[in-house]
Amino acid sequence: MGIQDEVKKRKTFAIISHPDAGKTTMTEKLLLFGNLIRSAGTVKGKKSGKFATSDWMEIEKQRGISVTSSVMNFEYMGHKVNILDTPGHEDFSEDTYRTLTAVDSVVMIIDATKGIEAQTIKLFKVCKMRGIPIFTFINKLDREGREPLDLLDQIEEVLEIETYPMNYPVGMGKRFLGIYDRYHKQFVKYNGNEDESYIPFDELDNGDYTSLTENPTYQESMGEIELLNEAGDQFSIDRVLEGEQTPVFFGSALAPFGVQTFFDTFVEMAPTPVPRRTTEEVVQPDNPDFSGFIFKIQANMNPQHRDRIAFLRVCSGKFERGMNVQLARTGKTIKLSQTQQFVASSRDTVEEAFAGDIIGIYDPGSYRIGDTLVEGKQLFEYDELPQFPPEMFQRVTAKNVMKAKQFRKGIEQLVQEGAIQLFRGYPTDSMIIGAVGQLQYEVFQYRMKNEYNVEVMLESIGERIPRWLKKDQVDPRVFDERNMLVKDREDEFLVLFKNDFALRWFIDKYPDVELIDLYEVN
Ligand code: G4P
Repeated sequence: MGIQDEVKKRKTFAIISHPDAGKTTMTEKLLLFGNLIRSAGTVKGKKSGKFATSDWMEIEKQRGISVTSSVMNFEYMGHKVNILDTPGHEDFSEDTYRTLTAVDSVVMIIDATKGIEAQTIKLFKVCKMRGIPIFTFINKLDREGREPLDLLDQIEEVLEIETYPMNYPVGMGKRFLGIYDRYHKQFVKYNGNEDESYIPFDELDNGDYTSLTENPTYQESMGEIELLNEAGDQFSIDRVLEGEQTPVFFGSALAPFGVQTFFDTFVEMAPTPVPRRTTEEVVQPDNPDFSGFIFKIQANMNPQHRDRIAFLRVCSGKFERGMNVQLARTGKTIKLSQTQQFVASSRDTVEEAFAGDIIGIYDPGSYRIGDTLVEGKQLFEYDELPQFPPEMFQRVTAKNVMKAKQFRKGIEQLVQEGAIQLFRGYPTDSMIIGAVGQLQYEVFQYRMKNEYNVEVMLESIGERIPRWLKKDQVDPRVFDERNMLVKDREDEFLVLFKNDFALRWFIDKYPDVELIDLYEVN
């Protein structure tokens, strides 16, 4: 099979949701379709204590949450499906955001009883900004939830995207009768614990289904569907692929009900790997030269081996184990011999991969988040990964000054992994770390102790507003604790303003100093 045919088979996506909306349950059902697991309840043993895929860290087990992202792949109906798992916990959004740079589409799961929740909005904003197509699954229809039209309205208003219900629920909770599948023109009947059954639209009125069609709940929903047919948006696959319209599916991941219809339609419609922008040009996925970028680095996945794995999204060409590639940042040639792909819980050696695939490569400490690897003679780098504004900052020191060496090594590696962002006080050279959420600090502290044997002390300097300065406009005399002058990893100067008020005061006082907001997402 040629590269082009291989690329066309790939569907690489992430599932995003607020914690508890049903992401794990949905993932399990998809893995069942892919014959990767034999029974549900094996992905995460949240309460049952069973085996958990991403249980690599003690802190994760203690909290019962998934704080790291993992990758699963399987064959389904002639497609090669790559699912990138994302942590649902809101404190870990930085990692989640970066994972979104490696996918071609996302599935957003919304709990019908709750509607859109804070976490969904944040993640959604990133998808929208990057133009990633979004498929929506409204879950838990077996429970009493919010009115379907209200849910659709909320998605349109809060997320500013057109919705097109591919199917529409008839009743919910105890009155749940099934879904009216507008796309396949059939009614999918909910039979409780039994398998769902399908009635083509043209058979609905032939007299065999009067117990259904004369049910007041059914008639009420038909009225709403008519309204949608008349006043709703037209379905447009082009708008879906541009990220301007989201196809909406209703169902229950737990039952499962509507999951098969959803997934079959999803794999048919979801985009295959898209061309990717580099600093020079646009690279087509079927370009014969291999290239890809690193979106995640994870250390110590296996505590016995102390290994570091860099996750690479293949963007073009064919990856073959043992091949030589160049690291664009340094121009260094690297032989990729220790490579893995991830199948639910196990890791296998990967021999070949194509655009859309995610491979894990052994990292002796040479890679950074955002690095590009290329096979061809011409070096280029994929667009930089977005940096996310840390929402809180802490000054960090080692409890024991004798441990300075391990302290520096630990921080350096965790910064490379993207686990935290590092800033240096100027001219004091104190170390300040930034993170999106509190849990990130706890993990940082835990890992410094367990992996680098250093106890660290953290002193909060609160939430800050970072703004970058031009080099020739830096005058250290005008800064203090309130408006703190620091340097970033690239030695660029920035100011951490204490609050909005301090920022505005500074702008008034020094109108000539240009303040730059480098963060893409705010
Ligand atoms: P998450 O990964 O998004 O955090 O959610 P998860 O799948 O773990 O689901 C959260 C809870 O919602 C689980 O219940 C799960 O069984 C339930 N759930 C998921 N999908 C549906 C659905 O379609 N209908 C109903 N009624 N419930 C659903 P739990 O009691 O918190 O955990 P567990 O003991 O069942 O694992």
